[in-house]
Amino acid sequence: MKRLAIIGSGDLAKQIAHHAVNDKHYQLVGCFDDFKILGEESNGLPILGNLDSIQDCFNQGMFDELIIGIGYNHMSFRQELFLKFEKTIPFATIIHSSCFIDKSARIGKGTIIYPGCIIDINTEIGNNCLIYNGCNIAHDTNVANNTIFSPGVNIAGFCSIGAHVVLGIGSVLSDNIVITEKVRTGAGTVVVHSIIESGIYVGVPAKKIKS
Ligand SMILES: CC(C)(COP(=O)(O)OP(=O)(O)OC[C@H]1O[C@@H](n2cnc3c(N)ncnc32)[C@H](O)[C@@H]1OP(=O)(O)O)[C@@H](O)C(=O)NCCC(=O)NCCS
Repeated sequence: MKRLAIIGSGDLAKQIAHHAVNDKHYQLVGCFDDFKILGEESNGLPILGNLDSIQDCFNQGMFDELIIGIGYNHMSFRQELFLKFEKTIPFATIIHSSCFIDKSARIGKGTIIYPGCIIDINTEIGNNCLIYNGCNIAHDTNVANNTIFSPGVNIAGFCSIGAHVVLGIGSVLSDNIVITEKVRTGAGTVVVHSIIESGIYVGVPAKKIKS
């Protein structure tokens, strides 16, 4: 079994470790975190060092694959880390075994799909994405890199979602919707028209409340 290291050691890292180990994808080696001390434990996860030590630890053969366990409050940092390491360290792709992923779907590296998701025909999900429990992504939809879907997001067919988008819990997108990059939606948002300006949107139908 391959050995996994996680960047970050907070709640998200703990969840990723749980699924990676309990769903039998990886053996967990530990986490890298600038706010923790080498050798201590955080959330029951061993700390391997700070972020500056990631490349050296990989070069020394301490782990096989890397994943980012930093959440939606740090979207730029997630992207920065992925771009920094993608050429020199393999990224894990973790898809929980309870998901239905159609054979025609393509899922990028560094992407994690939590339990109970459905990813249908001709769907493409980019690199470094995080798809929480119970998301349903219909046919022919594209999801760009570094995008996060909270639990229970439902997306109809032929949609296109830009990079660095965060969809809040229970968000719904009608068919043929295009969402530009760096958009965030609130809990229960229903998007019925394409969103061409970055910002925070809430409500039914979705309206922009913040840039
Ligand atoms: C949309 C969101 C990001 C905005 O957070 P914020 O920038 O801190 O904004 P606020 O909470 O101050 O809300 C601003 C206004 O929008 C309203 N609002 C916030 N979320 C809303 C929602 N989901 N639906 C309708 N209105 C909402 C607030 O009532 C407030 O209105 P007011 O100014 O009239 O009082 C946040 O409310 C949200 O829904 N986050 C998603 C949570 C989620 O999905 N968590 C799961 C993670 S795994």
